[in-house]
Amino acid sequence: MATLPQTGTDWSELKGRLRQLKQGDYAWKDGRLPVYVYHYTEELMRVSQEAYMEFFTENALGRKAFPSVATLETEVIEMGIGLLGGGSRAGGTFTSGGTESIFLAIKTARDWARKEKGIDRPKIVMPVSGHATADKAADYLGMDVVRTPLRSDFRADVGLLEAAIDERTCMVYASAPGYPHGVFDPIEEIGALAKKRGLWLHVDACVGGFLAPFARELGYPIPPFDLSVPGVCSLSADIHKYGFAAKGASLVLFADRDYQKYQRFEFSNWPRGTYVTDTFQGSRAAGPIASAWAVMN
Ligand SMILES: Cc1ncc(COP(=O)(O)O)c(C=O)c1O
Repeated sequence: MATLPQTGTDWSELKGRLRQLKQGDYAWKDGRLPVYVYHYTEELMRVSQEAYMEFFTENALGRKAFPSVATLETEVIEMGIGLLGGGSRAGGTFTSGGTESIFLAIKTARDWARKEKGIDRPKIVMPVSGHATADKAADYLGMDVVRTPLRSDFRADVGLLEAAIDERTCMVYASAPGYPHGVFDPIEEIGALAKKRGLWLHVDACVGGFLAPFARELGYPIPPFDLSVPGVCSLSADIHKYGFAAKGASLVLFADRDYQKYQRFEFSNWPRGTYVTDTFQGSRAAGPIASAWAVMN
């Protein structure tokens, strides 16, 4: 068991030990790892690292103390909204990753359903291919999830989604693309279903958000999947995946920023005044925000 040492060790020796430890890891730079690390070029990584180090110390919780971080964050969100089909009413939040973006979308939909539909314990209906983190969020948030079988092409079967909807359902969840098979659910059809039944549609574009728009520009047949599709209420897109930013960078975007009143946590029943956050995290690293800003620019 490791114990705190009585005397310090020379930094160069510690650094050597850190590097030594990595010897047994997968060789991601050689393409030996298809997940966890998204590496494009050395030059891009250098930009990401240097931007991160510029904001290594700042805290994104302190928007008034660090207007610099607030500016970077706002610009990243605005660029994301522009890329992903948001209109003039759209809004969003920079988060630590896909898990936090999805958690916040589900929390927002839960509180929307409680307030506007009177559903105490809301339910999510989704194809079985949706990311595990939806169930994780539902577990934390006191919600239920129903997962439906796929079509033979591994996409959501909209008829089965519709059949699973009941009076407690608040959200339909679809992926663009899903992690297990890498295919897009039929977002337009699911959007029409969500509109018809008065439900929230979340699109998980954690993998596709910063890849698919560019693949489309290159002429690949990317189906409509973003905030411009009628019925889509929220969308998650990870900048730390194919946006190639440092880890700890994702966006949760909303078609209408009014929804974010259900996202926000506000508290003042303590001696330190009002505490308001839009994220799950309190103190937040500013490095990933600077990295995302630099890489996007
Ligand atoms: C489609 C999809 N959604 C959500 C996540 C969760 O993202 P994170 O690991 O950044 O929390 C992933 C991760 O691979 C994913 O592929």
